[in-house]
Amino acid sequence: MTAVTIEDVCRIAPVVPVLVIDDLEKAVPLAKALVAGGLRALEITLRTPVALDAIRMIADAVPDAVVGVGTLMSADDVTASVKAGARFGVSPGLSARILDAAEEAGMPMLPGVTTPSEAMAAAERGLRILKFFPAEANGGAPVLKAWASPLADLRFCPTGGIVAATAPDYLALPNVICVGGSWVAPKQAVEQGDWSAITGLAAAASTLRA
Ligand code: 3PG
Repeated sequence: MTAVTIEDVCRIAPVVPVLVIDDLEKAVPLAKALVAGGLRALEITLRTPVALDAIRMIADAVPDAVVGVGTLMSADDVTASVKAGARFGVSPGLSARILDAAEEAGMPMLPGVTTPSEAMAAAERGLRILKFFPAEANGGAPVLKAWASPLADLRFCPTGGIVAATAPDYLALPNVICVGGSWVAPKQAVEQGDWSAITGLAAAASTLRA
């Protein structure tokens, strides 16, 4: 498995799907549907009991997908996710323990920040690409626009409350490298196994960047 950087992950497509997988049987067809629509970097959140198995199955069965893990809350989560095959990690906030564990395991990280202070703390650790989370609740695109000049070296992947209609506002900003979101995999479509609908949403999302 080729190692990737966070920049590689964020440049694969304009949108990184954020996935909460309840039913393990849905994991591989869901990943295939998203990849077929052009979204190859996938964040599987550790919010369900089957999440690690889902990562393992997608990593094995969908070679075109770049599978990452989201909602990392501890160093143990990092270790277990790397073992399952996760190639990048996302956390809601900035945690030195998680960053240390990820560094040790060789897993590139996209940690969440909501303030310039947190962004500066991350930059002091050498991280240049950060998640802005939860984006909409923290002021959305205008905040990132205001950060562009003072935090000129940093790039962001805003996530949280973003939908197809609002994603372009973020993607138009020079300091936004991609956005994260769950809108490309609506719960009902996943439950019903409506994979063509999901491929359609992914295909639309994959052309969002101007
Ligand atoms: C999350 O739940 O991690 C993010 O908020 C992405 O989900 P959303 O696009 O539904 O906000």
